[in-house]
Amino acid sequence: MELEFFKDVFESSRCGILTIGEDGKVSTINQLGREILGLTEPGIEGASCQDLLWRYPTICKILADSLRMETPPSRFEVELQSSGHPKRVIGGTVSHIRKGDGRREGVVLFFRDLTMIEQGEEQERLKDRLAALGQMAAGLAHEIRNPLGNIGSTASLLKRKLSGNDSGIIALDNIVQEVRRLNQTVTQCLEYAKPVHLRPRIVNLPVLVAEALQEVRAKWPSGRVEVREEHDSRIRDLYADGIQLRQVFHNLISNAFDAMGGRGRLEVTSLLETPGGDAGDSSVDEAPLFAVVKIRDHGRGISPEARERLFFPFFTTKPGGSGIGLAVAKKIVESHQGIIDHESEPGRGATFWVKLPYPGFSQGHAEGPGP
Ligand SMILES: Nc1ncnc2c1ncn2[C@@H]1O[C@H](COP(=O)(O)OP(=O)(O)O)[C@@H](O)[C@H]1O
Ligand SMILES: [Mg+2]
Repeated sequence: MELEFFKDVFESSRCGILTIGEDGKVSTINQLGREILGLTEPGIEGASCQDLLWRYPTICKILADSLRMETPPSRFEVELQSSGHPKRVIGGTVSHIRKGDGRREGVVLFFRDLTMIEQGEEQERLKDRLAALGQMAAGLAHEIRNPLGNIGSTASLLKRKLSGNDSGIIALDNIVQEVRRLNQTVTQCLEYAKPVHLRPRIVNLPVLVAEALQEVRAKWPSGRVEVREEHDSRIRDLYADGIQLRQVFHNLISNAFDAMGGRGRLEVTSLLETPGGDAGDSSVDEAPLFAVVKIRDHGRGISPEARERLFFPFFTTKPGGSGIGLAVAKKIVESHQGIIDHESEPGRGATFWVKLPYPGFSQGHAEGPGP
């Protein structure tokens, strides 16, 4: 077989391949291997392992040991942690290279960057834990709601029997009210804890935003909010769970109305973002990566102290607030593999934005239980 063919196999492999000779010098490395190890310099072939791989002492040691051993380690996994860079995991196998007559002429390393695989596994474990937590919350909610219901109805019954005893009635009213509040807390807790199951379809983002806006307006009959909408016309065919995304926009718009006390200016913008930035310029040929919806209000803004805890469940600065709106929104957006964040100038308003993979995600992701 031609040498060219072996070169093609070498470069097409989905593993990094690095070979060293008996003298401990690198004889070859394929392109993927260079990328995994971050080796950009030319003239790698012929360099000593120590010089070339000084950032990876464990890999150097594995190679040096393999030259000494009769049988090299069949598998290895090393964690690479350099300052300023995220942790990476590289795994692979080592084999001796032997000539036809059995004489050894070096060592070959086949390796892969396992970081993404590890992160995927970690996410799977997290999903399992959250699903179990959701189940526990549902069980607990059931156990709390039943006795709560009993307390509420007994208090109402007592109230009827106490007619004429004003202070007794006031005390019972108090009990009924507190029971109602506890019930609400349990319901909200449940809403946050239950796993997100996505039912993705082709959805029209501007329509979802408009529907959410209408729902919020209905809750502010005397509100006066002037809304300016600007949408990228290509954003209509996103693959996502429309009902849950509408909930996200509802929660964000509802907060904006709260922040402005039902009076002020609201700007809603949607756009497509390409790897190079905004895709406002349609002459750019790059395929868009994200659909972005921005909701900007001119309300009281967010204080630096609140900023850190905004998305925590039950964090609220409003009397009677649930503190669940942003936490639920974050959960829904993240199960779409999206990002939600905000920026704010205290006293001048806030902008929340939702960034969703465009045109959508794979069915595999979509059907699993969300975080
Ligand atoms: N647009 C906004 N402007 C100012 N503060 C906001 C805005 N959106 C959210 N917040 C802050 O984040 C907190 C949490 O919001 P959320 O989770 O929706 O709960 P809730 O609305 O019940 O308080 C709010 O209490 C408020 O302090
Ligand atoms: Mg809210």
